[in-house]
Amino acid sequence: MQKTKVVYQCQSCGHSTPKWLGKCPDCGEWNSFAEEQRITGLKGRKTAQPVALTEITASQDSRFSTGIGELDRTLGGGVVMGSVVLIGGDPGIGKSTLVLQSLNGLTGLGKVLYVSGEESPEQVKLRAERLSIRSDEIILLPETSLEGIVSAFRKINPRVIVIDSIQTIFTPDLPSAPGSVGQIRECATKLMFLAKKYSVPLFLIGHVTKEGAIAGPKVLEHIVDTVLYFEGDKGNPFRILRAVKNRFGSTNEIGVFEMMESGLKEVDNPSRLFISERPVNVPGSVVTVSLEGTRPLLVEIQALVTTSSFGVPRRTALGVDYNRVNLLMAVLDKRLGMRLGGMDVYVNVVGGLKVDEPAIDIAIMAAVASSFRNRPVDTATFTFGEAGLSGELRAVSQAETRITEAAKLGFRKGIVPAGNADIPGRHNIEITGVKNVEEAVEILFY
Ligand code: TYD
Ligand code: MG
Repeated sequence: MQKTKVVYQCQSCGHSTPKWLGKCPDCGEWNSFAEEQRITGLKGRKTAQPVALTEITASQDSRFSTGIGELDRTLGGGVVMGSVVLIGGDPGIGKSTLVLQSLNGLTGLGKVLYVSGEESPEQVKLRAERLSIRSDEIILLPETSLEGIVSAFRKINPRVIVIDSIQTIFTPDLPSAPGSVGQIRECATKLMFLAKKYSVPLFLIGHVTKEGAIAGPKVLEHIVDTVLYFEGDKGNPFRILRAVKNRFGSTNEIGVFEMMESGLKEVDNPSRLFISERPVNVPGSVVTVSLEGTRPLLVEIQALVTTSSFGVPRRTALGVDYNRVNLLMAVLDKRLGMRLGGMDVYVNVVGGLKVDEPAIDIAIMAAVASSFRNRPVDTATFTFGEAGLSGELRAVSQAETRITEAAKLGFRKGIVPAGNADIPGRHNIEITGVKNVEEAVEILFY
């Protein structure tokens, strides 16, 4: 029996209650509840049969290249047939451009249905011209109703489907407005069934709210197979595509792009890029190697320590966790006797990169120490390691991968945790293992 029930749902996180509330008990948002209808009790549903795991045959090669290496890498080695990929990001960051560019490769599969709910066909055409994409296999559909999309799908029988964006799609079955949590979930779910049934990859483009979640959001992350975030600064041409969920590959895999006049260009050697404008012999700059998915990435950490003119000193962290920076500065204060109490401290990861890995701890500390003491760190030296509260330096994973990457880019000396120091000596690089932060800082400043 199918029943329709009215519920109130938070438009920010998807929490639902039978009564309207002023404040969401889940995400704390005020005035975010809206009325939604929920259909309960599905009729005519077939029950599944249990199968022994050994009797299931799974084919390996159901992946297909998008023609963009960096996108393939983030997807875990190409797009999987019948998978649902959500691409989220700020408006104007380049989501539509990325997907449009990948269609060049994807038309190898057959027809592509590009549903544009935001831009007119002329606008899409102009962009395609700019990106030199002209394939007869790309079918444009300026449609926002789910039923319209489904019927076009049946008629055209495409091998790939793109929805730009999921927030514009609605179904008249629900009374709520397009973009509401209920609409997004309902439309995404229906489209997902379609993708699974016909085994076509489905790309959903979604905008991010100012809080940083895909609007209407958490609900979508559960439904789809893969969630990719497209990040970057508006004032910076570099864009990073990050996998935050992937049922078909590892997460935290990243792809790096540069936004050019003629679209997005893949960056083959991001390490070189992120340290290319590094100042020579200037205090407060330290290079470290962070691991993004399977890829080692050289990043420059900068710090600026100045005398504070306010009672409460400022602490600013860009690209790294604020609380982590505070913790590391407390360790510097206590273990190295660096009096940072009356100082403003600014920490920044160059290139608009966000790094969320304890392996860069020592680099943050060294950069702060370098600026504090006004002494530069040797430009050919890099460091990595996780700092403990008692100032010990802990070993990190995949040290060899990191060291090899640094060696490739011409670094001569590495200051690493003692537990990571016994790497086979085939690198043209001098590795020094240290036990604690104090030793590391000492060596970094000669
Ligand atoms: P777009 O893909 O429309 O962003 P989204 O779909 O995420 O909202 O990208 C828009 C921005 O990209 C716009 O500011 C212009 C810029 N851009 C270029 O710099 N070069 C290009 O070749 C294209 C197509 C866009
Ligand atoms: Mg767009």
